[in-house]
Amino acid sequence: MIPQITVLDAGGQYCHLIARRVRNLGVHAEVAPSETPASALAGRKGIIISGGPASVHDPDNPAIDAALLHSGIPVLGICYGHQLMAHLLGGRVQKGEQGEYGFAQLEISAGDSIFASLERRQQVWMSHFDVVIEPPEGFDVLGRTETCAIAAMASPARRLYTVQFHPEVAHTPGGNTILANFVFGVCGCRRDWDPAGQIRAIEDQIRAAAGSRNIFFFVSGGVDSTVAYTLCLRALGPDRVHGTYVDTGLMREGETEFVRRNFEALGASSFAVEDAAGEFLGALENATDPEEKRHVIGQLFVRVQERILESEHFLDGAWILGQGTIYPDTIESGGSAKADLIKTHHNRVAGIRKLIEQGRIVEPLASFYKDEVRAIGRELGIHPAMLERHPFPGPGLAIRCLCSSESAEPRRIEAGWILPVKSVGVQGDARTYRPVLALEKFPDSEEEAARLINRIAGVNRVIVAVHVWQPVSQLRCAPARLTRGRLDRLRRADAIVRRVSRESGFDAAIWQFPVVLIPFGTVEKPDSIVLRPIDSVDGMTARAVRMPGAVLESLAGELAQIPGIAAIFYDLTNKPPATIEWE
Ligand code: XMP
Repeated sequence: MIPQITVLDAGGQYCHLIARRVRNLGVHAEVAPSETPASALAGRKGIIISGGPASVHDPDNPAIDAALLHSGIPVLGICYGHQLMAHLLGGRVQKGEQGEYGFAQLEISAGDSIFASLERRQQVWMSHFDVVIEPPEGFDVLGRTETCAIAAMASPARRLYTVQFHPEVAHTPGGNTILANFVFGVCGCRRDWDPAGQIRAIEDQIRAAAGSRNIFFFVSGGVDSTVAYTLCLRALGPDRVHGTYVDTGLMREGETEFVRRNFEALGASSFAVEDAAGEFLGALENATDPEEKRHVIGQLFVRVQERILESEHFLDGAWILGQGTIYPDTIESGGSAKADLIKTHHNRVAGIRKLIEQGRIVEPLASFYKDEVRAIGRELGIHPAMLERHPFPGPGLAIRCLCSSESAEPRRIEAGWILPVKSVGVQGDARTYRPVLALEKFPDSEEEAARLINRIAGVNRVIVAVHVWQPVSQLRCAPARLTRGRLDRLRRADAIVRRVSRESGFDAAIWQFPVVLIPFGTVEKPDSIVLRPIDSVDGMTARAVRMPGAVLESLAGELAQIPGIAAIFYDLTNKPPATIEWE
């Protein structure tokens, strides 16, 4: 089926979001590289050019095939797409002097076509540096903001439209209407996209790919591999689908049992758990640095998978490999950089690469986004507790159990304490690894936390003490490794947090709730716990979320009873400047 809309990816972080929004309107949309030739896009009803970090004046700026703009297909340019169309069609784009980031008020001067049925004043979300200062010939200016005189323009006769702001983000409330106006009003698309309605077709594809062969999976207990596995079970029957779950010993409390029960409930008859906990803990014995831990885990995962493939004879011709790969993973720009790294490791197992080369692989969810995978899962009757699970990182609790190779004391400054514990952040586009600022009480506002990070050089994260057995001045950082005892301590804290979060309904209000163990305490109580609930859309950016006071108080009280825990902290940092995980 040819998608009706193609989103050309100019490197924007919101490129997938555009396609998802269009699909949520019921219209089949795909993402393709920006330079895809016009001939390969024949039959599309409309093209959307995404935003991106480049300037049209950069020597290597993402290009599009200019023939597209003369092909008669309607085109909508967003942000960089707006500038690129202006540039290619003879308008003028100027390097911006100060840039414009955040909310702006759009004044609409032509309330038809893509702005049909919208009020003349609209809140929009801007994030750009360059500006279009002169529209191409034949273009009308459709809207302006205080700092951007050409915030939207169009050549209705040629069905070319552009907007400087981002209609795809939630911060542009009229954005969905704008996209719907383009997709239905300008392009004349019809509704053809309903992931849950495609289950039969997906099953047919699985049967065609498998032929007479069986399918094996490495399952993780996550949503994607579970839904993909279930589709294969339905397509081929339980006798022909095998799943192996690798227990790294770095998973949450009860995870292995949860996965086993869940797969049994789905009707899996051929399901195995590979206990590799000893191997993983052994390999991590001396790893204290975050990147080293990730590296060790990635490498070992590869070796364990390879061993299973060989010893179970899954490499012979009677088997093909099933994977829960979803749409953003199939596109170069998709996913978070770290998640990609781990996936690359998994995909690079030599045995798996060989299968890919031989075409012996089936990825039933490769065209779908996460929310669509959930919709398919619901239609398949998979338990909501499985489908609504928060994301959990591949390296597991290892990257939430911080280690240290030295002793150090906290340092008092006027705003609080600089802890001798470092965590990872992302500032500009670069990764940082810096100490943490700890406050003694919650600041008056969310902005205050952000201001503190900007003001206090050398920190990338701010936390607040919510329960301490002893004053922070008496706590120390001491050498600590990834031991079974510390992992158990963290596992216990994580289980308590999950229970309280679920029972209080808080978990429905957030996207993810990492619980982190830091080697900061006393001789008797060597560790502290950090709570890190966040809200996010895709993990690329995130907002720290405050728990209701009463829930937090009782949660902290319960956590403080765990043997070996000196203090409970609460992380107040958005991403950026901190990453969601501490490592
Ligand atoms: P950060 O810490 O980069 O995390 O802000 C963004 C999202 O990615 C998850 N994450 C990972 N997921 N393997 C994964 O499968 C990894 O190595 C990994 N590291 C981070 C993290 O939990 C968050 O949802």
